[in-house]
Amino acid sequence: MIHVKVQQQNTGNEQLNPMQAQLKGRDFLALNDFSSSQLQHILHEAEILKKQHKNGQQDRSLEGKIIGLIFEKASTRTRVSFEVGILQLGGKPLFLSKNDLQLGRGEPLSDTGKVLSRYLDGIMIRTYAHDTVIELARNATIPVINGLTDLAHPCQALADFHTIKEKKGKLKGLKLTYIGDGNNMAHSLMMAGAKLGVDIAIATPPGYEPDASISKLCKNAAVETGATLQITNNPVQAVQGADIIYTDVWASMGQEQEQQSRETAFQSYQVNRELLKHAKNDYLFMHCLPAHRGEEVAADIIDGPQSIIFDQAENRLHVQKAIMKSII
Ligand code: CP
Ligand code: NVA
Repeated sequence: MIHVKVQQQNTGNEQLNPMQAQLKGRDFLALNDFSSSQLQHILHEAEILKKQHKNGQQDRSLEGKIIGLIFEKASTRTRVSFEVGILQLGGKPLFLSKNDLQLGRGEPLSDTGKVLSRYLDGIMIRTYAHDTVIELARNATIPVINGLTDLAHPCQALADFHTIKEKKGKLKGLKLTYIGDGNNMAHSLMMAGAKLGVDIAIATPPGYEPDASISKLCKNAAVETGATLQITNNPVQAVQGADIIYTDVWASMGQEQEQQSRETAFQSYQVNRELLKHAKNDYLFMHCLPAHRGEEVAADIIDGPQSIIFDQAENRLHVQKAIMKSII
């Protein structure tokens, strides 16, 4: 679903090139809403912003802009990287906890979206149902960014592909294997792979496969790039020839009551030395964090020399700055 916030377009004196004009005023809700070249443009912007930041140069693209950050779930990386990214771009973040908003007492999302649009220049929201961000975006006249829903975590997946490109020097032709729950992370990695030409294998226990409609969307999106998508219950088969091994928690936020049943179901899906014998020798290990050592991943792997988890976390900052610079 694509919403362009027309009011946001061409309001400044800046001359936009065609790609910038395509992105300005858009929501960032799911990677499927963007073409391969639009995602590549954002990755390229992120590369420039990161270099500039490391060289002490400033980009003040959000000067005078105020961005609201709505959180209905906990966060370390998303909250801090958005707040810092907005400040670095010259804007001001406004942290809005659901408990402090009338939204938490039942005020309709539609009214919230319309009201916040009268004050703010953009909204980032982390919530449960994906429909919540769609509903908010539909009612807001300012760009809305998905900072994680139960269905998708597009900012994390795009930052992860930026990290992979930095480490491997390319994306096309690589294979990423995700072991674990067919959750929001799995969905967004599948879509990023389909759009950016990375082969994806997903290995989950039976009953925990990714959403079938998302898998179908990814397969359709992959036609353009030639990327493949394999979904299996066999982790050994999935890691064969993998360049990247990725995992995430077995019980996501909101699934805490399923922790025990999931621990049982996921027992043979731990990323450990034994499983990684089947991957390429130069595999890289990734995790969106927070992680549970000894559950989804063995401590010697996540803390080992082939783990790039903190580069991933850092790149949230640069990629989200690129997203905000592009759409707001
Ligand atoms: N990876 C991620 O989104 O982390 P937080 O939950 O800390 O924001
Ligand atoms: N799947 C995890 C990702 C956390 C960043 C969750 O939704 O809790």
